[in-house]
Amino acid sequence: MLIAALLVGIVYYLPALAANGSAPFVKKGTPIDFRKKLNDGRRILGDGKTFEGLLLAVTFGTTVGAIISRFLGDEWIFIAFFESLAAMIGDMIGAFIKRRLGMERGQRAPLLDQLDFFVSSTLVLVLMHVKIQIVQILFIGILIIFLHLFTNYVAFRLKIKSVPW
Ligand code: CTP
Ligand code: MG
Repeated sequence: MLIAALLVGIVYYLPALAANGSAPFVKKGTPIDFRKKLNDGRRILGDGKTFEGLLLAVTFGTTVGAIISRFLGDEWIFIAFFESLAAMIGDMIGAFIKRRLGMERGQRAPLLDQLDFFVSSTLVLVLMHVKIQIVQILFIGILIIFLHLFTNYVAFRLKIKSVPW
């Protein structure tokens, strides 16, 4: 059943979604790049990537994994931890690319903003032998673009984020 496969696909990505969605609750923290700049005069990552955000995201993502593990098996606690970590590393790679392109923190980078964490978490799911299908990856990818636009808008309205993207 296609619908069932798509729903299972969503469940596979819940840890990454929870991780990525919880980081914005951290407004100020210690920047992962320790405010260091590269030769281009720009920050390595910027103030939007903090240790607190990373910790909260991985904790939240792994907790979601612990719930999922009740249905998909104990290994999901383990998978969720690495999936969440990968999501945040992908998010940092996205920030790194944005800074190199001279973009300020929070400046809009369509597709990169939405898919950086998705690409890295997909890679980890595949590497950890989660039986994920191309159709699931494509469906979730498209879903994430819409979900991201929607949740960022809601977070902006709730004043959790300073910009609506
Ligand atoms: N955040 C954090 N630590 C992380 C990731 C995110 O503290 N490792 C928080 C920051 O407050 C960040 C917010 O979550 O501003 C939203 O994340 P994101 O949209 O990825 O960051 P941006 O502010 O848009 O910055 P960037 O341009 O670097 O993506
Ligand atoms: Mg952003």
